[in-house]
Amino acid sequence: MTRPSSTQTILDYTDVPRHVAVIMDGNGRWAKKRLLPRVMGHKQGLDVLENMCRVCAAKGVQYLTVFAFSTENWRRPADEVSFLMGLFLVALQKKVQTMHKNGLRLKVIGDRSRFSAEIQQSIVAAEKLTENNTGLTLTIAADYGGRWDILQAANALLKEGKTEITESDLSAKLMLPDAPEPDLFIRTGGETRISNFMLWQMAYAEFYFTDTLWPDFKDDEIDKAFQSFGKRERRFGRTSEQLPPEQQRP
Ligand code: IPE
Ligand code: IPE
Ligand code: MG
Repeated sequence: MTRPSSTQTILDYTDVPRHVAVIMDGNGRWAKKRLLPRVMGHKQGLDVLENMCRVCAAKGVQYLTVFAFSTENWRRPADEVSFLMGLFLVALQKKVQTMHKNGLRLKVIGDRSRFSAEIQQSIVAAEKLTENNTGLTLTIAADYGGRWDILQAANALLKEGKTEITESDLSAKLMLPDAPEPDLFIRTGGETRISNFMLWQMAYAEFYFTDTLWPDFKDDEIDKAFQSFGKRERRFGRTSEQLPPEQQRP
């Protein structure tokens, strides 16, 4: 079964977002402020992600999808890219053990072909280890781009011989076809852009931007984002008056 579509139906109302998508931005600036090398910000960022998983699971979020490395991040200096690859391995080989104990399901989305053989094997192993867990699904978007995702879906349909496609055909071939569309999109670090994250899937996501840098995004900051989500009136094209009273916001 594929996800209900925000443009084909009206999504069910929930107090807590089912799916939270995050651009974890500001690691470099966090480190720079402390006169540390940029990569120390990435290291701290991984710990903050572990906390984010715990908090989201406790709040009842089903899916947490985080942007860890974009198709454009290959443009960074080689030593930073290589540090990030090392950190990815730490997450896949070591951190995954705790995640597994906590019942998390780990998934990775993106073009795996450009990663080393060791990373590719570790992704398969980490996904396999956690596949039957029923807790929070943590998806790491790595070498992921929203345009890449749409293109790979379109190409998969072309390969099947389709010459005309529907929204649900395309949706079914995108990454995470079974996950609900993100309800809440959070970007830390002060930039107010989408940077080629899940372009299609976020058609009706609620956007939350904060100046807080990712390594500082702890419990209180997470609460603020969720509180902001709780105040949103999700109309999906309708007027406010058409919504059930409990979904209307002043
Ligand atoms: C986000 O932090 C992490 C990645 C892109 C991997 P940045 O590294 O972009 O941090 P800033 O934006 O330079 O502060
Ligand atoms: C977006 O952050 C990608 C990730 C967090 C992985 P960037 O810091 O790379 O985004 P831009 O380039 O400033 O938009
Ligand atoms: Mg950045």
